[in-house]
Amino acid sequence: MPPQSTPAEIERAAAVLRAGGLVAFPTETVYGLGADASNPAAVAKIFAAKGRPQDHPVIVHLGSVDLLPRWAQDIPASALLLAAAFWPGPLTLILKRAAGVPDCVTGGQDTVGVRIPGHPVALELLRAFAGEDGGRVFSGIAAPSANRFGRISPTTAAHVRAELGGAVDVVLDGGECIVGIESTILDLSRGRAVLLRPGQITPAQIAAVIGAEVELRDNQAPRVSGALDSHYAPRTPLELVAAVDLPARLAALRGKKLAVLARAEAPAGMKDVSWQTAPRAVAGYAHELYASLRRLDALGCDLILVEAPPPAPEWQGVNDRLRRASSND
Ligand code: TXA
Ligand code: MG
Repeated sequence: MPPQSTPAEIERAAAVLRAGGLVAFPTETVYGLGADASNPAAVAKIFAAKGRPQDHPVIVHLGSVDLLPRWAQDIPASALLLAAAFWPGPLTLILKRAAGVPDCVTGGQDTVGVRIPGHPVALELLRAFAGEDGGRVFSGIAAPSANRFGRISPTTAAHVRAELGGAVDVVLDGGECIVGIESTILDLSRGRAVLLRPGQITPAQIAAVIGAEVELRDNQAPRVSGALDSHYAPRTPLELVAAVDLPARLAALRGKKLAVLARAEAPAGMKDVSWQTAPRAVAGYAHELYASLRRLDALGCDLILVEAPPPAPEWQGVNDRLRRASSND
């Protein structure tokens, strides 16, 4: 059994959120760093804790689709179809923002990102948080991933404590995040369906539900901090290498302190290399990816070599994160 926060801990965390505090909580993708999305002073604490630029929008997490109209307007039918198909789950929808949604969650844009996360602790937290209290209405939790800006997202409560511990009022523990990479982000705010960030839910799955093609991001798309090239990066330089080129690359780098993340087993004679074998299938690979990168990063190697996974559609989310982690920009 994964460690699960108790109902009393979740109630207390909801009270901390209502009072304007910060709560890190598990979702099925990665841990989020949450604050009351209606409270700009509380949301400002998220940016301060993460060291993130103030104009980046944050996703608003909801416990029920009934709360959607508080945050979004002109909601297209495709959004409701996707909500029915994938929520609670790892899909974020970008919609036109409703009147009164604070600029701190939208980054001053005319859109808002929303999702219902598929983790029991997150859902219990959202349900305990939502409601009226002292004349104030609580409905959404603003939460980016609970990492320092530009670093790897946390997939365990221990990752959050190590990186942000002192800056957070409560860290709820929900065990390891099942999915392991951040949600798929789909922009539905401009009459089309545009993929802003690939994730476990693929464009083909989305297209099958909405009966329309999913377009890839263009340069006019809203700002997405995950779209900065140097996002999701370990401190150790990371190089992506095609599987066929790995032996030659290892030979060329002999003498360096190396870590390898590969789906293949370590060949004989790799004693000096810290070799981490990754699951062959994409779900297991994504689930372990960030924890593996953190572990390899902590070894203090000169270089992390990652054997490139297949260029297949279901690997798009993983390949996107690896490409960003390998970018030196
Ligand atoms: O899986 C996830 O999505 C996790 C969990 C905690 O829900 N959250 C997450 O948040 O990855 P964050 O802030 O690390 O990444 C969300 C991305 C950011 O790149 C942000 O710029 C983008 O979503 N985003 C949020 N609202 C947006 C909007 N209105 N328009 C365009 N992009 C938006
Ligand atoms: Mg993030």
